[in-house]
Amino acid sequence: MGTKRHFRVWRGDDTGGSLQDFQVEVNEGEVVLDVIHRLQATQTPDLAVRWNCKAGKCGSCSMEINGKPRLGCMTRMSTFADNETVTVTPLRTFPVIRDLVTNVNFNYQKARELPAFAPPKDLEPGEYRMQQVDVERSQEFRKCIECFLCQNVCHVIRDHEENKPAFSGPRFFIRASELDMHPLDTRTDRKELAQAEQGLGYCNITKCCTEVCPEHIKITDNAIIPMKERVVDRRYDPVTWLGRKIFRRDQLDDPTAGRAAATGTSVATRSGDPATADTSAGWHQEGPLPQAAPVGPDGKLTVAELYLDRAAAASPFGDDQEFPLPPEKLRYQHPSAPDGDAHGHR
Ligand code: SF4
Ligand code: SF4
Ligand code: FES
Repeated sequence: MGTKRHFRVWRGDDTGGSLQDFQVEVNEGEVVLDVIHRLQATQTPDLAVRWNCKAGKCGSCSMEINGKPRLGCMTRMSTFADNETVTVTPLRTFPVIRDLVTNVNFNYQKARELPAFAPPKDLEPGEYRMQQVDVERSQEFRKCIECFLCQNVCHVIRDHEENKPAFSGPRFFIRASELDMHPLDTRTDRKELAQAEQGLGYCNITKCCTEVCPEHIKITDNAIIPMKERVVDRRYDPVTWLGRKIFRRDQLDDPTAGRAAATGTSVATRSGDPATADTSAGWHQEGPLPQAAPVGPDGKLTVAELYLDRAAAASPFGDDQEFPLPPEKLRYQHPSAPDGDAHGHR
């Protein structure tokens, strides 16, 4: 016989909801998902929760536990103090369907927007050959289980629905980075696409995504920062710099043109084609696209842009912040308090 523990579970749907209190039995060795299942079996048979493998590999059971994005099946009850209340809420960044289940279609739309692996035309599947060192280099990124915890925690979209059309998020930055370092991928504009189409510049390297990744992928250190550096290298390459000084922007190659032609998409369709938009995910709405640096009346970049020493905005933590961040500095926000605004969830 286990002990009784206090759980608070968010229940509701897209019209609103609230935290509900339960006293539930917990046995040694159990994880939070076990306790949710016991609640379903004994007290709330209609409590909605998404799960599949219960082994930390399908990425379905993402939820927020005591305010931190985690996998329910990999969060041991023994990590909490005996008298600690365990509060379970749905992912905040995505629209709630019901209870702990959210609509994560935003992520699948972003996956579709990313140009696929483009092997050399003269090679058939089965003829691809890679050096082991190249396989290993991107192996880390292929561990991703698409739990979308990193997407959920990223402050660029967490409370900013308006940024979603322009920002793909860390899960897709690692995909872009993986393809960028793939020796058989023939596209040479992955970095530029990440900057222009995926909103890489919105990321200010807070590392929250890395903090929550259950696969311990070094999203920021190994994918985002190297890509940012390479974009900057390209931008500050002396020849490129001179080219930008001499030519107007519309005379320079548009790195996104090839992608738009190849995928049949354009900025306009990406931000709002009502025929294909999935309204439930909210990605279709009009919003700001990644902003190119402003040009002066002569069509040239301003001097300030040319001498800027960073690729993105200033860190909200300040330049002297050490990483990893201490827990109190993480930008998690808990949905509304139990008696607060019923629409506090996102
Ligand atoms: S480092 Fe921060 S801003 Fe950048 S993708 Fe990760 S969570 Fe988002
Ligand atoms: S990168 Fe990590 S946190 Fe993000 S979806 Fe993949 S496994 Fe989940
Ligand atoms: S149920 Fe598959 S990761 Fe948790």
